[in-house]
Amino acid sequence: MNATAPAPSDATAPAAATPAHPGRPRVMVLFGGRSGEHAISCATAGGVLRALDRDRYDVVAVGITPTGRWVLAEDDPDRWAIRDGRLPQVEDTAAHVLLPQATDDRDVQVLEPGTLPRTLGAVDVVFPLLHGPFGEDGTLQGMLELADVRYVGAGVLASAVGMDKHMMKLVLAGHGLPVGPFTVILPGELERDPDEVARRVEKLGLPLFVKPARAGSSLGITRVDDLADLPAALDAARAHDPKVVVEAAVVGREIECGVLGGRDGQRARASLPGEIVVTDPRHTFYDFEAKYLDEAGVTLACPADLPADVVAQVRDVAVRTFEAIGCEGIARVDVFVTPDGEVVVNEINTMPGFTPYSMYPRMWEATGLPYPQLVDELVQLALARPTGLR
Ligand SMILES: Nc1ncnc2c1ncn2[C@@H]1O[C@H](COP(=O)(O)OP(=O)(O)O)[C@@H](O)[C@H]1O
Ligand SMILES: [Mg+2]
Repeated sequence: MNATAPAPSDATAPAAATPAHPGRPRVMVLFGGRSGEHAISCATAGGVLRALDRDRYDVVAVGITPTGRWVLAEDDPDRWAIRDGRLPQVEDTAAHVLLPQATDDRDVQVLEPGTLPRTLGAVDVVFPLLHGPFGEDGTLQGMLELADVRYVGAGVLASAVGMDKHMMKLVLAGHGLPVGPFTVILPGELERDPDEVARRVEKLGLPLFVKPARAGSSLGITRVDDLADLPAALDAARAHDPKVVVEAAVVGREIECGVLGGRDGQRARASLPGEIVVTDPRHTFYDFEAKYLDEAGVTLACPADLPADVVAQVRDVAVRTFEAIGCEGIARVDVFVTPDGEVVVNEINTMPGFTPYSMYPRMWEATGLPYPQLVDELVQLALARPTGLR
């Protein structure tokens, strides 16, 4: 490799940007992205852009287009709301944003056609509000680690484990945490040995939940009540991910619990739990429409009406789940509470829905931490943590 780096000439080097407000942390709100949850991420960003205290932070809004391009985006909460069922999307603004390339370079660059690169100056912390693959799964976190930039939320491994329902269940079970019966269908397995796959699936009984291993927002998930519907369900899941998880349906209430990283070496904190009640029988489970498009069909009860001992058990399981995958900053742990009071972990989301109306902020609100303070706490946790191995 050629060791001689081209020396920047004064004529072409961009002028160093002076921070707009010296001493005020610069937060890059990053959203959109390549996954099927692009629009949900935009909606979340709208909420965070509105909540960030502009007297305390300088804010840079950066969108990632569905093809993965990073662009300067409008710092306008209304632009990113889901309204009348219309899903927002990051468009290519032609002002492309580049992260620093090395640990001795702090500046974020903007490249526009026909102009010299210009610097935005240093960004102190990135708030990655991305859901799903290529954002919540460790890939983006790896990029931020390479750039030596601080960021909110889970690191590379916890993000990857949290995204992958197969690995997540193995890690949780390895920590003695309760997960329901499941089987995984690896890429190519269905073609190689369909009879063996059918045997494993049939052992789980009915109903089944067939899921892409790495997706979210219920995308690609089918509830199967009749084995005749299994092939279509597998196709739906495999449209999102070649790896599929098939689970036995768990009978129980759907309870969620917010977790926040601990301060100064303390353990993580759990919120009061909330409950998802799907009231409209057209949704046989908490599917994509019920989550985002048919708010009347779902009640988010917060806090959940549960006996004190069950609340304590849910909070304990939530913190232990967070710790089991090595999570940081933020997560929502979703469980089922069975009729006899048993808690079964459904999943951990390392970047839960985060609009002011989402369950995660509502649970913290019910616990005494309103949305703007929650946003602030997440940024502060990220600013306080070192980069690199920790
Ligand atoms: N094993 C199961 N038993 C009963 N309901 C389930 C099961 N798995 C998923 N569901 C239902 O499907 C929804 C979405 O599944 P989930 O695993 O949470 O996927 P996502 O990551 O897309 O949110 C859950 O909120 C719940 O309503
Ligand atoms: Mg879920």
